[in-house]
Amino acid sequence: MLNIILLGLPGAGKGTASAPIIDKYHLAHISTGDMFREAMSEGTPVGLEAKKYIDGGNLVPDEVTAKLVEERLQKPDTTPGFILDGFPRTTVQAELLEDILQKLNRPLTSVISIDVPEEILVERLSARYICKNCGATYNKISNPTKVEGVCDRCGGNEFYQREDDKPEVVKNRLKVNKEMNTPLIDFYTAKNLMTRVDGNQAPEKVFAEIDAVLATK
Ligand code: AP5
Ligand code: MG
Ligand code: ZN
Repeated sequence: MLNIILLGLPGAGKGTASAPIIDKYHLAHISTGDMFREAMSEGTPVGLEAKKYIDGGNLVPDEVTAKLVEERLQKPDTTPGFILDGFPRTTVQAELLEDILQKLNRPLTSVISIDVPEEILVERLSARYICKNCGATYNKISNPTKVEGVCDRCGGNEFYQREDDKPEVVKNRLKVNKEMNTPLIDFYTAKNLMTRVDGNQAPEKVFAEIDAVLATK
């Protein structure tokens, strides 16, 4: 059983790295960002609340986010293991997660931080595009579809850009997330769970580094 947290600033490649890991290890992918976007598109109360923060690149309140994760972790598909992508993002969330996992008796296996220099993050986010049909994520510069305009995974031909990838919002997202990142890394380093990988290399290489860490667990 692998219970993993993937840390990384916006655009570090958490979603991209999650895909081959869940395929290989059959883990549930728990991305709070994806869950909020789904709730926003459905117009649920959580979605309406989250929208107030996400549109400006701010963090959704800790309790709202932790509750969402707690409910998600009770679904049976998480039993063989899970990847938390984008949660926790604050030390308060990390403390709340400790309580949740203790209650569910699901200890963490490993926390992996994908490290990428800030200037590269800005570039990546502005060039990101996503398949409307299956959610696969691409990049105009670093990771385009093999055939232009056709999704590698599902063959779809409609794509979109995320609302919060606009330059004004990206600036604030990076600022807000950066402030929280170091204390979070310190939190898990103190628990002996932390590994940092170089995210400024091709996606296959990032995956290989993460996979090498997981192989020892
Ligand atoms: P979320 O959706 O999690 O956004 P984020 O943290 O800003 O991260 P991203 O999804 O933008 O980046 P990523 O690391 O997944 O990178 P990706 O693989 O796509 O959260 C959105 C919002 O929800 C937050 O701003 C906040 O408001 C709210 N929220 C979510 N969780 C919360 C929480 N816990 N607490 C409070 N609020 C919360 O890759 C990016 C691009 O780079 C793509 O184009 C990709 O193709 C490319 N790329 C990826 N890897 C590589 C590589 N190795 N080399 C070259 N290009 C690459
Ligand atoms: Mg993501
Ligand atoms: Zn697709």
